[in-house]
Amino acid sequence: MIIVHDPPAMQQLADDARKSGKTIAFVPTMGALHAGHLTLIRKATGYGDSVVTSIFVNPTQFGAGEDFDRYPRNLDKDAALAAEAGSDVVFAPSAGAMYPQGYATFVSVEGIAGLLEGQSRPGHFRGVATVVAKLCLIVKPHVLLLGQKDGQQVIVLRRMLMDLNIPVRLVVVPTVREKDGLAMSSRNVYLTPGQREEAPVLYASLRMAEQRLREGERNAETVRSAMRDMITSGSHGVIDYVSVARGDTLEELSVIAPPLSVMISLAVRFGPTRLIDNISLTL
Ligand code: PAJ
Repeated sequence: MIIVHDPPAMQQLADDARKSGKTIAFVPTMGALHAGHLTLIRKATGYGDSVVTSIFVNPTQFGAGEDFDRYPRNLDKDAALAAEAGSDVVFAPSAGAMYPQGYATFVSVEGIAGLLEGQSRPGHFRGVATVVAKLCLIVKPHVLLLGQKDGQQVIVLRRMLMDLNIPVRLVVVPTVREKDGLAMSSRNVYLTPGQREEAPVLYASLRMAEQRLREGERNAETVRSAMRDMITSGSHGVIDYVSVARGDTLEELSVIAPPLSVMISLAVRFGPTRLIDNISLTL
């Protein structure tokens, strides 16, 4: 496994791999790798002759007052974990190399990027779309692997890849969870023991909502309201949003009329820690 810091060196490596007929599978991350990320890397080995993992805490996707400064960083440990999971290359650029003095170009996905996460975190998806577009131009992957854990991110990036004619196949990997259902996240380490104990109520509320829909409940607000009740009665979490939306446009539903793909999602704060989770289903 090799670590590359310099974007032009990474581009050269990608060109060489492509010239020798190799397929490149790419897993972008912000590091603090956990079993969720490692599952993506392991899956990637099935899609590419060469697996590239990027580790870059992207400043442009964090808002003022968010956790950019305290986001966990440990390149040596992450590189060892990535190698163990099957990564051939770790691309770990500096912020200065990705956004040098005078940097001025951003990718903004209109519409869907302004809903849900985009409403709570203005500018977040502009940063995500910009860095993933740049990373695709640097790593030149044939296959890009993303986690369903960040459901809206998948929808926004799928749109961007299509709109910008970026020739990459998108593979979405199911959410990896702790035994009690909590979605694995680099931010779980911020939780106090008490908050950690309460946090599984998030997935429980998603499962309850899914079950209601599968059993025939057709009023989306009834489902959202039941989720809110379950979360507030079962934890000290402060709800940012709960959503029952169309799976393609993320438009909030009122009456549910199958056939329909639905994304049930939520964001809840435990103290300063904001957790997100979702379930996608087809009715
Ligand atoms: P990060 O939060 O580090 O996540 C990197 C990738 O791992 C994303 O595709 C995310 O959906 C996936 N992932 C995280 N937790 C997961 C879990 N429990 N199960 C399955 N997949 C999981 O998402 C980002 O970084 C950034 O926005 C990035 C795309 C790298 C752009 O900066």
